[in-house]
Amino acid sequence: MGDVPLEQIRADFPILSERVDGKTLVWLDNAATTQKPRQVIERISYYYEHENSNVHRGAHTLAARSTDAYEEARSKIARFIGSPSPENIVFVRGTTEGLNLVAHSYVKPLLAPGDEIILTILEHHANIVPWQLIAQETGAVLRVAPVDKNGQLILSEYTKLFNSRTKFVSVAHVSNALGTITPLGELIQIAHGYGLRVCVDGAQSVSHMPVNVAALDADFFVFSGHKLFGPTGIGVVYGKSELLDAAQPYQGGGNMIADVTFERTVYQKAPQKFEAGTGNIADAVGLGAAVDYLTHIGMDNIAIYEHALLEYATRELTKIPGLQLIGTAAQKASVLSFVLDGHSVENAGQHLSAQGIAVRAGHHCAQPVLRSFGLEGTVRPSLAFYNTYGEIDALARALFELR
Ligand code: ALA
Repeated sequence: MGDVPLEQIRADFPILSERVDGKTLVWLDNAATTQKPRQVIERISYYYEHENSNVHRGAHTLAARSTDAYEEARSKIARFIGSPSPENIVFVRGTTEGLNLVAHSYVKPLLAPGDEIILTILEHHANIVPWQLIAQETGAVLRVAPVDKNGQLILSEYTKLFNSRTKFVSVAHVSNALGTITPLGELIQIAHGYGLRVCVDGAQSVSHMPVNVAALDADFFVFSGHKLFGPTGIGVVYGKSELLDAAQPYQGGGNMIADVTFERTVYQKAPQKFEAGTGNIADAVGLGAAVDYLTHIGMDNIAIYEHALLEYATRELTKIPGLQLIGTAAQKASVLSFVLDGHSVENAGQHLSAQGIAVRAGHHCAQPVLRSFGLEGTVRPSLAFYNTYGEIDALARALFELR
């Protein structure tokens, strides 16, 4: 991949050599979480062995080290997604917390009864429920853009949803259940044409393709570290400066304040304004190491390799009698959802697991879109750049056996 051989990449991920039930692990559950290269694992160990402290630069030497490591990670992540400044990067626990933050901090104060928020039917529950919660509190209403039979968003239907009551838009970049890549540039441009702001759920895109939030003109862009070959418990909200300035803190506590009396509190500027309490310092540093690792390989190289692998896997799975792919949009990333005649998704998932092949089987926290296909669940292999053609062959062989 680029200048880095695939064997070397695979050797960087210790768990890929793991044996499960006597079989070599084939990790095809990357949409749920990704595996970690030793560069990330070792960086976290180094942090705890040499740098661990709370982040309050100036107090003592380790505090300076941990503050530098934490802020350096923020800068790396800013560069990785094309953010104009590290100050636009807020650390959160993951995409779910990030979307809740945007909903409560920025959007809720804008809403009055009857106002509308536009989503798409492709959304993960994490990009539905937070909006439902603030809609219930304010009397606002959710409007939902549909997909066609291939799982591609119908742009003309999306456009029709805009009216004078629309206040905000929140859309997935890539569907976790179908793999559809949404036409994000157009979705943002259309919303901006109405003077509206857009939040992007980037949980399933950042690990598969280059993302540049400035080029996209995204207002908010949210993702999780653990789906980006980094640790669990750390994620990112990118927000444009004027929006972070306008937003109210989502949680209160230490670290986010400039001055506190019992009468009133003066907050720090963003991003600290949104980082109450002691953050997940070690895992932010680990995420910085993941970003270094990916930058070294090159997201362009990753996207090209994975696209070819996805096309190969699509061809191979299509040959299996009785297998129906769910989600066949022209633009897809990573995900191959399917159902198999005569087998429940749980049964197919267990059969694959017995062969050492890890996939997710179920509703993938995206019930509305699966139900729009008349389904309660699918089997979902999902690819990452360390997967091989041989692993796809193993998947296809195991599914042929099941037939
Ligand atoms: N959002 C994760 C998935 O799609 C957990 O599996």
